[in-house]
Amino acid sequence: MILIGLPGSGKSTVGRQLARRLQLPFADTDTVIEQRLGCSIREYFEQKGEDAFRDAEQATLADLCGSPDTGVLATGGGIVLREANRQCMARAGTVIYLRSAPDELARRLRHDTQRPLLQGVDPLQRLRELYAARDPLYREVASFSVDSARRSVSMMVSTVVMQL
Ligand code: S3P
Repeated sequence: MILIGLPGSGKSTVGRQLARRLQLPFADTDTVIEQRLGCSIREYFEQKGEDAFRDAEQATLADLCGSPDTGVLATGGGIVLREANRQCMARAGTVIYLRSAPDELARRLRHDTQRPLLQGVDPLQRLRELYAARDPLYREVASFSVDSARRSVSMMVSTVVMQL
C-alpha cells in the first residue's frame, strides 16, 4: 500500500502508524534514497539538481514496489510527476492520497528547512502551485483519497483502514 500527497500531508507519520496497526513493514522512499545516496535530499538537490534526484527516486520506487517486503510505503510529494512512477504505483496495489489544502500544509511546514522546493520562496504560494499541478496526478493514480483537514493522525489511520 502506497501513500501519496503533497509535502506536509502526513505520509510518513500516517504511514508509520498504519503499518504498526496492520503489522506490516514500513518504508519511506525519501529515507531509502538518502541511505543510498549517502547525503540528505536537500544536499543532493543543491549539488546535482532536481533531475538527478528524480532519477534516484524513480529507481528507488521501482525497487521498493518490486520487493515482497514492502508493506506500507510513504513517498516523496513529487513521485507522481513521472508517468513511469504513476504506472509503477498503480500496478503495485492500493494507492492512498492524503489530501490537504495548501494553507494547512503551509501552516504545518512553517518551520521546515529541509524541503528544497520550499526554500527561498513564499511557501504558501509555492504550495498552491504544487497543489494545482499535482492534485490531478494524485487523483489519477489514487485508489481513494483521505482528507486530512481537522483530522488527527490516528483518525486518518482509522479512515484508511476502514476503506481498505
Ligand atoms: C519533494 C518532496 C519531498 C522530497 C523532495 C521533493 C517534492 O518529500 O521527496 O524534497 O517534489 O514535493 P516530502 O513530500 O516527504 O516532503
